[in-house]
Amino acid sequence: MSASKLTRPSLDFKDSFLEALAEYHAEGRYLHQDIHRISQDFPGFIEALRAERGYPHQPYQDWVEPVPETVLWLVKDDQYLGTVDIRHRLNWHLEKWGGHIHFVVRPSMRGKGFGKKILLKSLPFANYLGIKKALITVDPHDASAKKIIESCGGKLEDETLATEQFPARQRYWIDCN
Ligand SMILES: CC(C)(COP(=O)(O)OP(=O)(O)OC[C@H]1O[C@@H](n2cnc3c(N)ncnc32)[C@H](O)[C@@H]1OP(=O)(O)O)[C@@H](O)C(=O)NCCC(=O)NCCS
Repeated sequence: MSASKLTRPSLDFKDSFLEALAEYHAEGRYLHQDIHRISQDFPGFIEALRAERGYPHQPYQDWVEPVPETVLWLVKDDQYLGTVDIRHRLNWHLEKWGGHIHFVVRPSMRGKGFGKKILLKSLPFANYLGIKKALITVDPHDASAKKIIESCGGKLEDETLATEQFPARQRYWIDCN
């Protein structure tokens, strides 16, 4: 059995990634990623995610300043477990709602400690990208995500109020040094 590690997206994890994507869709996440289309051209999907200058952060591209992000996958024993997206800088939307770092563990693998691992392991990558302090935003009612962020040193700054389009978010800053 191997230890979990962060890695660039790769063809090696096709089956478990597609299974996880179905799990994410079932909870309303990553709906812009079409499973059928991705499975038809998995190499093309991976190539886009691995773009050297960053993958363009997807939602709201039409009305906010585009921001590149580095996408990393948490893997263990040749299985995909989760994703962390590290946005290279903030735009006004990320500053209020999205943050620099977004991490997610596939639903069937939650509650096993991988949430804390994925965030801890992402901090040196953020630092390498020039981010000294990272903003992480979280659903105020998400006790497990808040516990993870605080246990990794995150300090609560404030809470962004909900709008018609976006939910309330607590904003934490975390030291990446
Ligand atoms: C947040 C998320 C990544 C957590 O993943 P996970 O793999 O379940 O996390 P862990 O197993 O590391 O558990 C985190 C901690 O929360 C605790 N926890 C779980 N449910 C809890 C609850 N209802 N109340 C309080 N603590 C809780 C766990 O006991 C654990 O604490 P411990 O390390 O002291 O035992 C996962 O739920 C997820 O992908 N959510 C959707 C995306 C998201 O909200 N991301 C975070 C904001 S960017």
